[in-house]
Amino acid sequence: MFIDSHCHLNFPEFQKDFDSVLKLMTDNQVSHALCISVNLRDFPEVLAIAEKNSNIFASVGIHPDYENENPFTVEELVTLADHPKIIAIGETGLDYFRLTGDLEWQRQRFRKHIQSAIESNRPLVIHTRSSAEDTLKIMREEQASKVGGVMHCFTESMDVALQAIDLGFYISFSGIVTFKNAIQLKEVAKQVPINRILIETDSPYLAPVPFRGKTNQPAYVRHVAQALADLRGISLEEVANNTTKNFFELFKLAVPCK
Ligand code: NI
Repeated sequence: MFIDSHCHLNFPEFQKDFDSVLKLMTDNQVSHALCISVNLRDFPEVLAIAEKNSNIFASVGIHPDYENENPFTVEELVTLADHPKIIAIGETGLDYFRLTGDLEWQRQRFRKHIQSAIESNRPLVIHTRSSAEDTLKIMREEQASKVGGVMHCFTESMDVALQAIDLGFYISFSGIVTFKNAIQLKEVAKQVPINRILIETDSPYLAPVPFRGKTNQPAYVRHVAQALADLRGISLEEVANNTTKNFFELFKLAVPCK
C-alpha cells in the first residue's frame, strides 16, 4: 500500500470526476491520502472531503504564497484543528521564490503555525522555497521539534535534509524526483534514511514521469515510490512498507482504514 502524504483534493481540477480519482487510487493500491489546506476560506471544503472519505485525512493552515488572507490567531487555528480527521498543521513555511519584498508577515505567520502545532499537538507540514536557512532558523527558535513534521516536496540539499531530520522531521519526495534534470535531488533521495522518507504527489501539480505536464492525482504517487526504489536499488514493496509505516508514525492521529 502507498500513501499520498500531500495533495490538494479540493482544487477545481478534481471536482468534475472525484469518484474516478478515488477509484484510480484503489486500483493503484494507494490506500490513504492527506488533503492539505492552503487557506482558511477553503478549509470547510478540505474538511468535508476528509469527513466523507474514511481514507482521506486533512490539515489546517495557510500556505505562505497566499499573501492577502484574513488575520488569524493561534487560538483560532487550534480550534479548527480540534477534529479527529485533522492530523496536521499546514501547509506553512517560507517562500522567497514566489514572493519578494518585506516578507516579515510570512515569517510571523510561520511562527504562529508552529505555536498552533505545539498547542494542538499535531505535526507540521512545511513548505520551503529559496528560504531554507530562515525556515530552519524559525523551526529552531519556535521549537518545532516538539511536534516534528514533514518537509514537503523536498528540493533542498542533503545538508538541509539532515538538519530537518535532526529536528524530528521527515523528508517527503514528490514527482520532481522522477524528472530527468533533478540530478542533485536524486542524490538526496538515495541518501535520506529510509525511516525518514515520505512520498507525495502535491497534486494537481507536479505529475511524475510518465504523466509530466498533465494533471497530477494521488494514484500517481506510486510512480514516486518506484523512482525511489530504482534510485536506492530496493524493491517497490520495501518503499511502500517503509513510507506507510513512517506516515502513521509521524501522523499519530491518523487512524488507518482497512
Ligand atoms: Ni502543496
